[in-house]
Amino acid sequence: MTQSRILPLLPVLLVGLVACHSGNTMDTLVAHSDLTESILAIYERIFWWTVLLFIGVQGGLIYIIMRFRARGDETTLPEQVHGNSQLEITWTVLPVVILLHIAIPTVQFIFKSQAAPSPDALKVNAIGKQWWFAFEYPAEGVVTANELHVPLGRQVNLRLQSDNVIHSLWAPQIFAKRDMVPGRVNQITFKATKAGEYLGQCAEYCGDSHSLMQFRVYVDTPEDFAKWVANQNSNAVSEAVPAGSEIVKAKCGSCHTVKGVTEVASIGPNLTHVGSRTTIAAGILLNNTENLKKWISNPAGVKPGSKMIQVGLNPQELDSVVSYLQTLK
Ligand code: CUA
Repeated sequence: MTQSRILPLLPVLLVGLVACHSGNTMDTLVAHSDLTESILAIYERIFWWTVLLFIGVQGGLIYIIMRFRARGDETTLPEQVHGNSQLEITWTVLPVVILLHIAIPTVQFIFKSQAAPSPDALKVNAIGKQWWFAFEYPAEGVVTANELHVPLGRQVNLRLQSDNVIHSLWAPQIFAKRDMVPGRVNQITFKATKAGEYLGQCAEYCGDSHSLMQFRVYVDTPEDFAKWVANQNSNAVSEAVPAGSEIVKAKCGSCHTVKGVTEVASIGPNLTHVGSRTTIAAGILLNNTENLKKWISNPAGVKPGSKMIQVGLNPQELDSVVSYLQTLK
């Protein structure tokens, strides 16, 4: 296709790209917290300066080419000029002004993003595991995995940790990328501005299943958040599938907690309310019968390098374990 035929298609392609992005909750050009709105504002400032500079430089280039090109039968060199203080001062001072206009809000934002949280902020320990995320709410007594619930309009202070290698927690529309470093607590504080479900991803290469280390952020209304906390706080004791309960107690209890059923263990995700989650295996599979079976019967096939072991259940045992887990809402 010739250039002249591609050019008119460009706007169509751009509209297509924007359309593809509209449903993607990892799109960094859409911000839904105070933190990401500030980042986007700086990004837009840089973008428009870049547009202006591009037009200025290309416009100047075209003007100079047209204005000073050799015309007709010109054979002699034009007048040779060396140095122009006025021009040199202009092209030194102007970039300094532009860089200051970018640097001042950037540095201000870096300090703001490190500021201590307000006393009434919701505190959550976010812990990088191989390869999933644990979320602990100390004041609420809630422990969950891979699905972070936060209330709309209230400040949230994440305390980022790792007990293995370096991970990085990133939900592009809700909070900035920040590392989870073993032996250190990094913090990130934000206030979500729109209820919804947002995707997140580990953003630091951390081994075999780095790309399969996902999570979700649920921004709930304050009422829904209170309901979620109350439900998470209850013991999810289900009498519906006693056979499944017995197997989980015997074979899963040394790694997973089911509050009121097993001892407390934190090697694998807390399963007390696993039935209420949308996804399993760190956000990569929808939480349904087929996927639960797939995951439990062959964890390494779903997530290479996973610490989840193959527990070796016969089909009947697998059925009752899956049915039992699904009752843990
Ligand atoms: Cu954890 Cu990459």
